[in-house]
Amino acid sequence: MFPHVSVLLEEVRQAFAVKRLYTFVDATLGAGGHAEAILQDHPEIVRFVGIDQDPDARAIAAKRLQPWKDKVIIVPGNFSELSQHLNNLKINTIDGILFDLGVSSMQLDQAEKGFSFSKEGPLDMRMNPEGELTAATIVNTWSEKELARIIRDYGEEKQWRKAAYAIVQERAKEPIVTTSQLAALLNRSLFRKKKELNPATLVFQALRICVNSELEVVEKTIPLAIQKLSKGGRLAVISFHSLEDRIVKRAMQFAASDKWDNSGIGGVFLDKAPEVCLVTRKPLIATEEETNRNPRSRSAKLRIIEKL
Ligand SMILES: C[S@@+](CC[C@H](N)C(=O)[O-])C[C@H]1O[C@@H](n2cnc3c(N)ncnc32)[C@H](O)[C@@H]1O
Repeated sequence: MFPHVSVLLEEVRQAFAVKRLYTFVDATLGAGGHAEAILQDHPEIVRFVGIDQDPDARAIAAKRLQPWKDKVIIVPGNFSELSQHLNNLKINTIDGILFDLGVSSMQLDQAEKGFSFSKEGPLDMRMNPEGELTAATIVNTWSEKELARIIRDYGEEKQWRKAAYAIVQERAKEPIVTTSQLAALLNRSLFRKKKELNPATLVFQALRICVNSELEVVEKTIPLAIQKLSKGGRLAVISFHSLEDRIVKRAMQFAASDKWDNSGIGGVFLDKAPEVCLVTRKPLIATEEETNRNPRSRSAKLRIIEKL
């Protein structure tokens, strides 16, 4: 058994079933569950590139994908460097690419990575252990204004002012260095009705997104991935929260559109050639059977486009 259950696995298989894939990129390899399914379905694959910034995930995926070791190339690093990764491998075009965004359940379960407010660990939250910014640095050194901004924008926490204020008050007494210290502080400071989310949920989400620049890298990489797709090639993205999905949706709609507005509100619309067509107008979501089996799939949305 692998420590992460792949979401929307059948839907991802279907997304690529109609294509012959010679070169494929899994931009978020994780435990290699989607990768394994795609390699099984597509014996024609010549090169399968799997990117992940977490060495633990790469080690697990490498074991799992051993039967295809002659075609699988595991690349350490961030998918935002997609062009460099492909240039290094002398790959000009790809026939398919998958993004299964965010953290895996195995990362959430590793207390020492500090993602989970229910597990005692250091306030770290880096998917890439060599990354420079940790959650502890943000919490202990950023200004109250900056903290409030990320808690509002990346957490969509309604009590963002209160959360930032509580953090700044607490750190004046002693540094906030563990997940449980921060969770306890938020539990004391933020109001929640019974049955609502744990008060720490959205602040932890905000910190994680900020530490890993999660929104910026998606915004930057989707257009790069589209450029690299061969004619008829497909790009599939699974996102897990509305902030991420909004970016994916906009990037896809923009690429599928024959217009772009470069002049702000009410400005002139200029023509441009659409680069892709939308395979999914509305995102695909998990079936009831899947959400019962794997609650993490409840918030997953899959969007697919095809290169024209
Ligand atoms: C949800 S998991 C993927 C699970 C995988 N699809 C499977 O079936 O096992 C996301 C993985 O992507 C990695 N990841 C997230 N953002 C990344 C980025 N910007 N660059 C490289 N890897 C990233 C994480 O480290 C994590 O291992």
